[in-house]
Amino acid sequence: MFKNLGKIGYKVESQKVKIDLNQINEGVNFTDEFIIFKKNDELSIYDRICDHNSGKLISKNGKTFCPMHNWEFMPETGIYKNGLIKKKKEYEIANNQILVIEKKFQPEIKHVDKGIGIKVRYINHAFLIIESDNFKFATDPWALGPAFNTGWWLKHQTIANWKEELNSCNFIYISHNHPDHCHELTLSYVDKKTPLVVPNFTSNSTGLLLKDLGFTNIHNLNFEDQYQFNGSELIFTIFKSGDLREDSGFYFSAGKFKGLLTVDANNLNFLKLPAVDLFASSFAGGAHGYPLNCENYALEDRIKMLDTDRKFIRQTKYKYLEKIKPKFFLPYAGFFKEALKRDGIYIKHNKKNLVNDYKNFCKKLNIQILNVEENTIFNFDINKKVKPEPYIGKYYADISEESYLKYYKEKYQKIDLNYIKNYFEKSKFNDNSILFISLTNGNFNKSDVNFKINFTKKITFSILEDKYLKQALKSENNYLFLKIRKEAFLNTIYNKRSWEDISIGFQNRQYRKPNIYNSDFWFHFSNKYVSTKYVQSTTDCSNCTLLNNDIHNILFKKKSVDNILLFKKSN
Ligand code: FES
Repeated sequence: MFKNLGKIGYKVESQKVKIDLNQINEGVNFTDEFIIFKKNDELSIYDRICDHNSGKLISKNGKTFCPMHNWEFMPETGIYKNGLIKKKKEYEIANNQILVIEKKFQPEIKHVDKGIGIKVRYINHAFLIIESDNFKFATDPWALGPAFNTGWWLKHQTIANWKEELNSCNFIYISHNHPDHCHELTLSYVDKKTPLVVPNFTSNSTGLLLKDLGFTNIHNLNFEDQYQFNGSELIFTIFKSGDLREDSGFYFSAGKFKGLLTVDANNLNFLKLPAVDLFASSFAGGAHGYPLNCENYALEDRIKMLDTDRKFIRQTKYKYLEKIKPKFFLPYAGFFKEALKRDGIYIKHNKKNLVNDYKNFCKKLNIQILNVEENTIFNFDINKKVKPEPYIGKYYADISEESYLKYYKEKYQKIDLNYIKNYFEKSKFNDNSILFISLTNGNFNKSDVNFKINFTKKITFSILEDKYLKQALKSENNYLFLKIRKEAFLNTIYNKRSWEDISIGFQNRQYRKPNIYNSDFWFHFSNKYVSTKYVQSTTDCSNCTLLNNDIHNILFKKKSVDNILLFKKSN
């Protein structure tokens, strides 16, 4: 079904950036673009691009760090404080000058040399359907209900017949395992034999999750290999996110038309980006629990950090747009909202970029914005001219947010301490840190139970009364303290899901000592220690009922799921 046409080719341009060797002192040196560490005659050169998400590394009070999310880099060792190794730059020395070799790579996908018409439809959030006469595929379908426990909700309505549309696709591409992209409830309505395309991540985080959901036709495709679908004009490849996370983007040619879809991937393909006609990308920001959930900072500081982050996301997208120079920019994958009263702090402060924030910039570069809040159907003709159209039809009627919350609270009330103890003791995570957890009510101010998990040497699990928790938090020096809503925690660990469902879903408050992001911990519990393959403890508490059966039985019992609202969009 997917013929492998081999690795993608790159156009390479090299240039040498000159730095005067006499200006370089022993220790750490900064130029506009580089950090140079000199020890005797040895030089280590790094770019100043932060490997988290392309912020700029700066120097202050003897420290090298990125002001975006405080990643600290140690030029003496070439390693970030969280353990990530930074790649060194190649260089030469000639005539007392350092020549740093900068290479620019531009990928070029194979294509069938023929103009064809294609239709791109925005369904919701990151859910697109792209089709021509001989292929039809969907991306990251999320059509109803919440994501990330109950933190995220769809901002737009979904078309009434989304299930039929999804089930008539030749395949579905799932970019990564976050639930706004790999959405269990939506996928529960998809035929389990439907071909699913997932990136071949080292830990197979997405493939394993889909296997747990009962899918039997999962294609784990290699990064940068080019695949042709069924001899059609569709050729695609998958690019990896350039940061620590397991995330991806999708680069395709449909005849002469070329498109790049990136959702949440940072530094996609290590910023080796192609020139395309259509660039579809997230744009909004606000997609993290951090920093609003971080009690190391006063609220006003968190709000300032959010503001900086939002502007930074905009700048990052501008850079992508400048590099890619697409004809069309389709902002998507940012249309979610917070809806429950208990998430008031997010509703109030978690502001997002709007499509219109990109208007002036795109105008300058002569890029046409495809604004899905005006039109959702984009027909491209064989000459790549677009005809946008609004959707005129019925919409799907979902049940209320509060009903979903009630369901989660009822379903995940029973704390199975044996399961939780087992879950941690078998997690195989070791570092020199301690994790404290309080399972709390919706407002994080009343705790049902507290645990301490010590990951140093042999993993130990213990239960702490409130007063001992307070003492421990005073006396320990290396810990992460998470207050987590009880039902969100239980839903996540009983179902062997990613802990990002908690953090990104606004389901926790955290305090870190020292105030450093423990990337190993979050990677382990978000990507490695997930799925029934790796988490083998079992509990009766999740009832092992498939989510959509539950939704049918509990939530929709008074209403048929096919009961759609007879709603016509007014122009
Ligand atoms: S810490 Fe540098 S971009 Fe996040």
